[in-house]
Amino acid sequence: MKRIAILTGGGDAPGLNAVIRAVVKTAANQYNCEVMGVRDGFDGFLGDYGLFPLDAAAVRGILPRGGTILGSANRGNPFARKVIRAGREVVEDVSQKIKDNITDLKLDALIVVGGDGTLRIARELFPIGVPVIGVPKTIDNDIGGTECTFGFDTALNVATEALDRLHSTAEAHHRVMVIELMGREAGFITLTAGLAGGADVILIPEIPFTIEYIIDKIKKRTERGTHFSIVAVAEGARRKGGEIIVSRMGDEVYTPRLGGIAVRVADEITRLTKIESRVIVLGHLQRGGTPTAFDRDLATRFGAAAVRLAAEGGYGQMVALQQGKIVNISLEDALAVPKRVDVNCDAIQTARGLGISFGDSPVI
Ligand code: F6P
Repeated sequence: MKRIAILTGGGDAPGLNAVIRAVVKTAANQYNCEVMGVRDGFDGFLGDYGLFPLDAAAVRGILPRGGTILGSANRGNPFARKVIRAGREVVEDVSQKIKDNITDLKLDALIVVGGDGTLRIARELFPIGVPVIGVPKTIDNDIGGTECTFGFDTALNVATEALDRLHSTAEAHHRVMVIELMGREAGFITLTAGLAGGADVILIPEIPFTIEYIIDKIKKRTERGTHFSIVAVAEGARRKGGEIIVSRMGDEVYTPRLGGIAVRVADEITRLTKIESRVIVLGHLQRGGTPTAFDRDLATRFGAAAVRLAAEGGYGQMVALQQGKIVNISLEDALAVPKRVDVNCDAIQTARGLGISFGDSPVI
């Protein structure tokens, strides 16, 4: 193994820089192998200046930094890319160009650090001859085959701190505070932060809710003399029989932008209880800033393991965390079943036992 490349794709997650650093250091120290950084996800292969050498100096001091020194792109699917031809916008498959660039640059492996969407692209590139190695990242923690992705722990801590801060102001003003957290299809952040931050109502994509049950919970608290409530809602949560709320529609290239569910829930609470309800959308604060020790550690272990996997020629596979150990699994297997909150898991049972409402049934 003489030369490998690394790219980061999709939404950023705290810990990306720790992966890059671990890849560069492991490749140099253990394998005397050169590493190229690819700018802005797969887009880096399509322009003229998208690849550059990464050495020890380039990764010095980046371990505690959020974001990614490589840049990222979550609109950069090479199999469906929007380009302008003769003044018209068309969608083209430019994947072969990536393959050709990798051959020309004599890259032995391409380490792809990304979430569900980016790893799916890697899975499609593998059969056309791109030597991909996957590293799973996402704050949503929704990738199959791995117990955890880095970024999740940091996002969880930010969300929990927000819930703590909301408690004092909600209590002071006798309000209902509805906080919208990230989580397109998986409610891990909202469930875990909701438990850790003492939310009264937790709404997640896996459990469609009915507004009446939420009102029931808030009214019971009022009857018992507690005149404030905290509702934690995942951006992908929806009413039973209802649609996911989007702030921008998607198309064949762009995924829909979620957002707006908290406003809907808060409006209904105000209308039906006459209690003042306010909305906080935590948004990208959950993705920014310095990674927690857990995320730095996991990201570093993933990065080093990805280089070892590349050295073994384990293309088409991804590193993963299983029972506390780093293992390798095929991208095919990892992406076959997306990870979602098990609605019968102990965290849900615990929350129900504590009287937390999921908006799907009356609470005690
Ligand atoms: O997948 C991670 C995530 O943070 C989702 O929870 C969220 O819907 C999405 O990224 C937002 O992406 P963007 O920053 O592109 O709007």
